[in-house]
Amino acid sequence: MLNLNRDVAVVGAGPSGLTAARELKKAGFTVAVIEARDRVGGRTWTDTIDGAMLEIGGQWVSPDQTVLLDLLAELGLQTYSRYREGKSVYIGADGAPVTYTGDSFPVAPGTAAEMDRLIELLDGLAEEIGATEPWAHPKARELDTISFHHWLRQNSADEEACNNIGLFIAGGMLTKPAHAFSALQAVLMAASAGSFTHLTDEDFILDKRVVGGMQQVSQLMAAGLEGDVVLDSPVRSINWTADSAVVVSERATVNARFVVMAVPPNLYSRVSFNPPLPRRQHQMHQHQSLGLVIKVHAVYKTPFWRAAGLSGTGFGAGALVQEVYDNTNHGDTRGTLVGFISDEKADAVFELSPADRKKAVLESIAAFLGDAALAPEVYYESDWGSEEWTRGAYAASYDLGGLHRYGKDQLAPVGPIHWSSSDLAAEGYQHVDGAIRMGRRTAQLIAEKAKVQVAAGW
Ligand code: FDA
Repeated sequence: MLNLNRDVAVVGAGPSGLTAARELKKAGFTVAVIEARDRVGGRTWTDTIDGAMLEIGGQWVSPDQTVLLDLLAELGLQTYSRYREGKSVYIGADGAPVTYTGDSFPVAPGTAAEMDRLIELLDGLAEEIGATEPWAHPKARELDTISFHHWLRQNSADEEACNNIGLFIAGGMLTKPAHAFSALQAVLMAASAGSFTHLTDEDFILDKRVVGGMQQVSQLMAAGLEGDVVLDSPVRSINWTADSAVVVSERATVNARFVVMAVPPNLYSRVSFNPPLPRRQHQMHQHQSLGLVIKVHAVYKTPFWRAAGLSGTGFGAGALVQEVYDNTNHGDTRGTLVGFISDEKADAVFELSPADRKKAVLESIAAFLGDAALAPEVYYESDWGSEEWTRGAYAASYDLGGLHRYGKDQLAPVGPIHWSSSDLAAEGYQHVDGAIRMGRRTAQLIAEKAKVQVAAGW
């Protein structure tokens, strides 16, 4: 058992915790990062499965994610563009695949006009409300007490338009059914990415990947911490006073002045806090939950769809695999497709045997890209719902009404304990960029507090 004395104990070696530790170390603080898993990176995880390098977790970078882009450059990591030449495929309400180019689905003119109108409405709300304090806006309560599903239908009678717009947020981002989160939560998601239009534009939101994999961001940051990261060591309890804490984990105890809880909010209650957290936190944390999505990887001898003039991109709000993309690795001669199965559809396929699930998933991908999709050389399902130290994907959001009710307090420190994860970010919310922004913000806050304490003669 290690017994460590540090200025700051960081719980969780994902991108947020490692950023906080890195920044604090740069500012002259001593740190220890305590991680439950046997690896760093959290929800970013680059692994080789049956000879294929796969991004099991987070991977894409968009142009507005400037903090991540800067960090990639600083760490010497290269990016490359997602393959996007050729036609995309849309599967609408009739179940028939239709090819198209550009970023508008090939729907009936009336539906297209309704989609444009809803996008404009959501762009306006995102701009007006913003990502920093959506709970403080005069419309916050009104928008937070209606589900996104019902808000869409309140604003449009076109079911296909509602389903398509719902897909960009529900299946595409929050990975919960659109009836399970509010319109305000949807507006936050849009504002955090710059606009709702950005979420509808896969060439923007899924622009680049990291050569060699996104997990390297965390691996390189951890390497710079030179032995101050303890793996395989779940934090079990935090005994705290107004200005100190003892963080007790499986393999290390850290005596620290500050704590950074860099884990998603759904996992806070895995730690026993002594004394217990205040009522407000106890309540708030029960209203933040992770979504559920299965990220499916299928690797083929060649990217066969490209020869057929297809980009590999497909959308179908009613399809089992709601989104599919070319996810071929940089410099790889093989072709990789990635597909996503969200929320209730994920529940349904997890009821099947692995063989039946694989068959159903590949048939759904084949409906977009042809029967050659039925026989991949490598097939893998990222199942984050089964990961004890995550419990879902991609990230946490509030249930109906929770954002305006609790949002203002989600970052409030409790004694020496600070909260830091992509799930609490404004810009970059739910993304690696947001995790890094939160890590930096938390480090800055702690550095300022420490300065005040020194000035006060503590
Ligand atoms: P993160 O969850 O990464 O790290 C928290 C760490 O805390 C974990 O390592 C965990 O093991 C540890 N921990 C938890 N409890 C603990 C305890 N009690 N004691 C010690 N350690 C504990 N983002 C993006 O930008 N582009 C993308 O394309 C995608 N796509 C994507 C796909 C999938 C399938 C997933 C699951 C996620 C994404 N994301 C993404 C989201 C992105 O991966 C995510 O936002 C960040 O990894 C969050 O970083 P954090 O550091 O906030 O938490």
